Amino acid sequence: MWASLCLVSVSFPVLWAQTLISCSYKSLCQQALLSGNDIVLHCDHKEALWYFSSILGENIFLLNSWPNIKTLPGGSLQLTKPQPSQAGLFRCEDSTNALLVEYEIDFQDATTLHITHKDLGQKPLQNETLNLGGQVLIFTHWEPWQDCNRCGEPGERKRLGYCYVEEPPEKPMPCWLYLRDEEVQYSRLRPEMQVERCLVPCDPGKEIKQPFFIYDIYQLGKLTNPMWLTCPLASIYRPIMWEVNGIPLTWRGQLVGQGMNTVLDTSTGGRQLQIFQPATYKCYVHQEFMAQFSPVMGPEALEEQNKKEEQQWQVGKVLVPPKEADSVLKGLKLMLLMVFVLALAGLLFRVFRPAWDKRKNSVLLVK
Ligand SMILES: *[C@@H]1O[C@H](CO)[C@@H](O)[C@H](O)[C@H]1NC(C)=O
Repeated sequence: MWASLCLVSVSFPVLWAQTLISCSYKSLCQQALLSGNDIVLHCDHKEALWYFSSILGENIFLLNSWPNIKTLPGGSLQLTKPQPSQAGLFRCEDSTNALLVEYEIDFQDATTLHITHKDLGQKPLQNETLNLGGQVLIFTHWEPWQDCNRCGEPGERKRLGYCYVEEPPEKPMPCWLYLRDEEVQYSRLRPEMQVERCLVPCDPGKEIKQPFFIYDIYQLGKLTNPMWLTCPLASIYRPIMWEVNGIPLTWRGQLVGQGMNTVLDTSTGGRQLQIFQPATYKCYVHQEFMAQFSPVMGPEALEEQNKKEEQQWQVGKVLVPPKEADSVLKGLKLMLLMVFVLALAGLLFRVFRPAWDKRKNSVLLVK
């Protein structure tokens, strides 16, 4: 039984994780996204008010009761694990109810994601026509390929594809912004993810050497239940890679059934990993080391072990090789430095109030 996951050391990563959706002042942007993956809708106004109207066309209302949303200090709206039912119009207004920016978002159901691997010869979904009073074309609108998930060694990269509807001469639209309240059960209506092999050189100039997270997985005796690990600050919109005892996990391996006794969660693009056996797990985001999960004996287990004088496997001894311990120390030092820098930045922020949203690392611009 795995009892608990304990965060031993938290730090403040430089590589900040929010996927930011921006749209220009007073404009309306339409965007398809995936449910279950956090995003931030940008609005640059300190006293911003957010209103919402669902795709079912109900009256617009002030957003203040959903538990998974938060207005950030700069005015932007943070959505944690948005659901397909939260698709609709998000409108940012100032305190005099003047429009600042509007987003029409289709949160396509990530649990229905159709995954294919190019190097396994798997084909993405075909274009299809559907009769909805008139003929419409259902197709996948592909995002650009994300960066390779590792460098200097073979890795994988992915791209997301959203379900779109085209009804000429109209511009194509995300499927559920088109369908609205129309009840259509049709298997082509789903988002996609395509994976392929990649090999890119490492760019030392790009390395951030950011602090990282260290977790202990308390193991009480023998493992009976699988457990989910979540890579912090990762999301389906960013390159992610997992390692088990130093061996990289691949989508290819999982798709051909050689998953190393692990399951990458498709609906989060591999942000979550299901594990069935104790080992040291590491995750990387944007090729940067993000977190390590190490099994540690819980007190009860230690007691039990002492009684039995019998070790199932040597936890704690193999887990932090000297090199790793060194980088943990470095990480801690960096963390202290970061706390200082952040305090300083906070002070400067109060003085200058820069538009901090704009400087976030991962920016997804809406055309
Ligand atoms: C599918 O439809 C889209 C949108 O009209 C088009 O851009 C694309 O080329 C089509 N793909 C195929 C394989 O016909």
